[in-house]
Parts: sequence; structure tokens; C-alpha cells
Amino acid sequence: MNTHGRIAILASGNGSNMTAIAAACEKRTIPASIGLVVSNVPGANVLARAEKHQLPHCCIDHRQYDNREAFEEAMLGKLQEASIDLVVLAGFMRILTDRFIREYYGSLLNIHPSLLPKYPGLNTHQRALDAGDSESGATVHFVTPELDAGPTIAQARVKILPEDDADSLAARVQAREHLLYPRVVRWCVQGEIQLRDGKVWKDESLTDDGIDA
Ligand code: GRF
Repeated sequence: MNTHGRIAILASGNGSNMTAIAAACEKRTIPASIGLVVSNVPGANVLARAEKHQLPHCCIDHRQYDNREAFEEAMLGKLQEASIDLVVLAGFMRILTDRFIREYYGSLLNIHPSLLPKYPGLNTHQRALDAGDSESGATVHFVTPELDAGPTIAQARVKILPEDDADSLAARVQAREHLLYPRVVRWCVQGEIQLRDGKVWKDESLTDDGIDA
């Protein structure tokens, strides 16, 4: 059963995760369509990528609004106009208010470049290197009001190599993100993943720490 047929992707920068999800929709690996790509940054590369994939896209520049609420109202208007039922954050660099999060609770995903709960926030790769960690990775989680702290759906792990710097580690983690994110989006679209009472369920079983993917 498809529970989420119309996806919106919100992104501020390059958009490589957007492209990975768009490609999976084109191949029907994800049985849904991208109804809208939104960027808050004029000229962001993700908009050029959306154009190339012939996806509906728009820029809603947060600097044109008096406050966060007004910016989000504009976004919510566009999402509702496009009948969006699953919102996918992919490098979206604005913090969302509770109001927005409530509107899409259980249908709002984010990808973060660390093995959460380690390293919420920025500079995750350098922080993993500085800590001498032996592995890093990416986490897809449901978005809840606390930053980078929503329930984890799935994680992809990579080994940290002795010769790694932040750039090489970021590149390896991103390659895994491009497999992980479309997979989790497919699960959501197919109704295999649910958020109930703050906990993640996959195929009607409770998952405690997320799925290794
Ligand atoms: C990804 O590394 C993701 O984990 C983080 O932002 C980055 C976005 O990259 N949230 P891209 O714009 O999808 O290339």
C-alpha cells in the first residue's frame, strides 16, 4: 500500500541526495513522485538538479520573510498546493518550528552525516576524526522538535581509515547516503515504517536503535 505518494524535498545546497531520490523515483524503485523541490537559497545547485530532472521546484528565500513562522507558512502553502504527504530534508539548513514539524509529524525525514546520537549539529566528520573514532556514517531519522534527535530509522556505517581527513570521510559517507536515503524513503512510501508514540516501527515490529542499512 502506498501511504506517501507525493514527496517534497527541501534542500539548501548541492542536492546530491535529492538526485539519488529522484533517480529512484524515475526507476520506480520508489513508487512515488516528487511533487516539489524547495530550496531556501537562491541559485542553490539543488535547483539546477531539479530542473535537469524536470521536477517542479521553487526557491523560498528565508531572508525575504520577517520571521521563521512567516517563512514556514510560505513553505507550508507550497507543500499543500502540491498535495505533499512526505517531506524529505536533504541538507536543509534551517531549523524548523514545532508548528511545521507537527504538521508533518511521522512524515518528515532528515539525513544527518554521523551515527546519531553522536555528533548532532555541524562539522561531524572532523569531530569523529578528532575523537579517534573507528567508524562513522549517516543516520536517517524522523524529525521531532529537538535538533538531530528524532527517532532513528536506519544508519549506514563506514570505517574510518588512518589516512582519512574530513573531506575523504565526507565523500565516503555521502556515497552511502545515496543508497541509504532512497531505501528509507521507499520504506516510508510503502507504509513499512511508522512513527508511533515517538517510536519507530518497521513491518509492525518495534525497532529500538534503528536498522543497520
Ligand atoms: C548530506 O551530507 C546530509 O547528510 C547533510 O547535508 C548533506 C547534503 O548533501 N544533512 P547534498 O546537498 O544532498 O549533496
